[in-house]
Amino acid sequence: MKATLTFSLDYLAQVVRDCQRCPLHRSRTNLVFGEGNPEADLMFIGEAPGETEDQTGRPFVGKAGQLLTQILAAVGIQREEVYITNVVKCRPPGNRVPTKTEMDACWDWLAAQIALINPFLIVTLGNTPTQKLLGTTEGITQLRGRFFSWKGNIEVFPMFHPSYLLRNPSKKKGSPKYLTWLDIKAVKERLSLLRSRNRKS
Ligand code: URA
Ligand code: URA
Repeated sequence: MKATLTFSLDYLAQVVRDCQRCPLHRSRTNLVFGEGNPEADLMFIGEAPGETEDQTGRPFVGKAGQLLTQILAAVGIQREEVYITNVVKCRPPGNRVPTKTEMDACWDWLAAQIALINPFLIVTLGNTPTQKLLGTTEGITQLRGRFFSWKGNIEVFPMFHPSYLLRNPSKKKGSPKYLTWLDIKAVKERLSLLRSRNRKS
């Protein structure tokens, strides 16, 4: 009998759970691997776990996470349909931006998650994941709201980070919140198009 070896997301999560590739492991309570639909067409990548995420081991469950859930719901996307993770899996002390060394140490895990999920579309939230994936130093204000082709068959769409929206609550025309509303509608439409063009087998 032939043994079948499947390298699943669950297996990867087990491998990653005890990661000590960078110093962030020393101050973490829980590693935050990511969660959601392993066959998602749409993936969200944030920066790093915050306090609530570190405590619970789940991504985007604090205030910013609740706002992300609402942004998705506004266009009829359930959290469970998508996959959500971060560039680094352990909380940087005081929520500082992860260093390049930390992001590089964690990169294999994110790369493996993307490869296993193989989404049509990746939404990067804020500067950190956007700059890491696109290999640019350009800021989110310039990059958001545009579809970038990434590694051939995946599209990357940068949006503002929900934490940024919490700090900038104005909904006036042209405000970050207003632009995010346009952006999430664009994601919804683009996803329908990509799905109809390219049915997953
Ligand atoms: N901010 C992030 O970038 N990621 C989380 O998981 C929570 C807050
Ligand atoms: N800086 C970020 O990292 N993200 C934003 O969305 C805005 C400013």
